[in-house]
Amino acid sequence: MFDKKIYQQRRAKLLRQVKSGLLLFLGNNESPMNYPANTYHYRQDSSFLYFFGLSFPGLAAVIDLDEGRQTVFGNDVDMEDIIWMGPQPSLKSRCQKIGIGDSRPLADLSPLLQEAVRQGRKVHFLPPYRGENALWLEKLLGIRGDAVKDYASAEFAKAVIAQRSLKSKEEIQEIEAALAVSAAMYREAMAMAQPGITEREIAGFIEGIALAGGGRMAFPAIVTVHGETLHNHFHGNRLEEGDLLLVDSGAEAESGYSSDITRTIPVGGRFDPGQKAVYETVLDMQRTALSMLRPGISYRRIHLRACAVLVERLKDMGLMRGDTDAAVEAGAHALFFPHGLGHMMGLDVHDMEDLGETWVGYDDKTRRSQQFGLAYLRMAKKLEPGHVLTVEPGIYFIPALIDQWRAEKRHADFVRYDKVEKFRGFGGIRIEDDALVTVRGHRVLGPPIPKESAEVEAAVRHR
Ligand code: GLY
Ligand code: MN
Ligand code: MN
Repeated sequence: MFDKKIYQQRRAKLLRQVKSGLLLFLGNNESPMNYPANTYHYRQDSSFLYFFGLSFPGLAAVIDLDEGRQTVFGNDVDMEDIIWMGPQPSLKSRCQKIGIGDSRPLADLSPLLQEAVRQGRKVHFLPPYRGENALWLEKLLGIRGDAVKDYASAEFAKAVIAQRSLKSKEEIQEIEAALAVSAAMYREAMAMAQPGITEREIAGFIEGIALAGGGRMAFPAIVTVHGETLHNHFHGNRLEEGDLLLVDSGAEAESGYSSDITRTIPVGGRFDPGQKAVYETVLDMQRTALSMLRPGISYRRIHLRACAVLVERLKDMGLMRGDTDAAVEAGAHALFFPHGLGHMMGLDVHDMEDLGETWVGYDDKTRRSQQFGLAYLRMAKKLEPGHVLTVEPGIYFIPALIDQWRAEKRHADFVRYDKVEKFRGFGGIRIEDDALVTVRGHRVLGPPIPKESAEVEAAVRHR
C-alpha cells in the first residue's frame, strides 16, 4: 500500500475530471470454487485498488461529486469471522490509512443510491466484468444484470483510463519489483529447459518463485513447446532436445502491479540454424520497436515497422517475396504474426481492458483496423511519457492457418507457401519486455533477462 497522500491525490484528480453526480466503485468479493469458504485467490478490482488501496472483500465506495464527500462502505468483522479469519483492523482505521474519514456499514449503500436515483442524480459506475458485481449493480440500481454494462459511465471510465495510463514513480517501482521476480523465474526456467523435463515441472517451479516473492502469478503461465498456439495453457509435454520452449509469464507484486515477460528457449541450449534465423528476426523486430518508443509516435506506426522488419527478414529466408510495404499494407505478414505488438500494463497485465479495450488503446484520431492481425492490436494511439507497454513481437507457424491461407491462395504474391511448408512443425517464438515511455525515449523496465540468442543458450547450459 502507498502513503495515504497518494490515494488522496488520485481521488482529488479524478474529482476534477467528471462533472457531477456520484461515482460508485464496487470492490471485488470472494469467488468460491465450489462451496463459499473454498475460494479462488482473492483479487481486488484494480480501479478500487488504485483509488482506495484496500484489498479485501465486501467493500464499495462512493464519491459524491456535488458535495465533495468520499465514503467507503463495508462491515467490521463479527465473532464468527474472527474465529475463522483472526482479528482484523476496523474499517475506520483502515480508511484512515487511505485518507477517508467517512466509513459506513455496507447496508447504508443501497438507501444512499436509491435516494440519489430518486432525486434524478447521475450514478456513474464502471463496466462490471464479474457476474457477481453485475448482479450487485442490478440490486443497487434496478438495472437488469444483463444490461448493466450498457449503462456504465463512459465519462467515468475514460477519466479512470486517462489517469491510470500515466504511471507515477511509485507505480514504476512496483512494476520493477514484479520484474525482479520475473528475472528469477526466467533464470530457473532457462536452467531447467533440458530434455526429459516436463512443461509442468517448469510451470510449477516458476509459480513457486512468484509465491515466494510475496505475490503470485499475474496470469496463468504459458509454458509450452507449442508456442504457435498463442494462449497454450497445456503443460503436459515432455521436453526434447531441439524443441523451442516458449514461456510467457508475469509476476504480480503484493501491491497488485504486474510484469509480463516472454522468452523462447532452445531445449538443451542450442538453437539450430533455422531456429536461430527466426529468433534473430523476432529480436530484430523487438529491437526496432524499442528504439522507436518515444512520446508523440503512435504505437500502430511502431507495430507496422516491426511487421516490415519481419517481411524483410522472411524475404531473406525465402519465405516471403515482393514489396515489403505492400505486403505489410495488405496484411500478408499476419500469417506469421497474427497479434498486436503489445498492450498497456500496470495493475492489470492487460491494463484497464475491463474499462474498454478500445478506449485504452485508441482515441478519436486512431481508429481500429478490421484487417486480420492488425485488428488485434490493443494499443495503437500516440505514446506519452508515463505509458508502460509491452513490446512483444512473435513469429509463429500455425499449421491450420497456413493450410487455410494456402488453399485460398491468400496473399500468394507475398507468401512462398512451398517454402513455408518446411517450417510446419517449427512452433513459435515470441520475445516480450515491458518498457516505460520517458520524456526522451524509453526505458526497458526491470533487471536484464537473457535475450540475445547466445545469452539464452548460455543460461540453459549453465545450470
Ligand atoms: N501474457 C499475455 C500477453 O502477453 O499479452
Ligand atoms: Mn505475456
Ligand atoms: Mn503481453
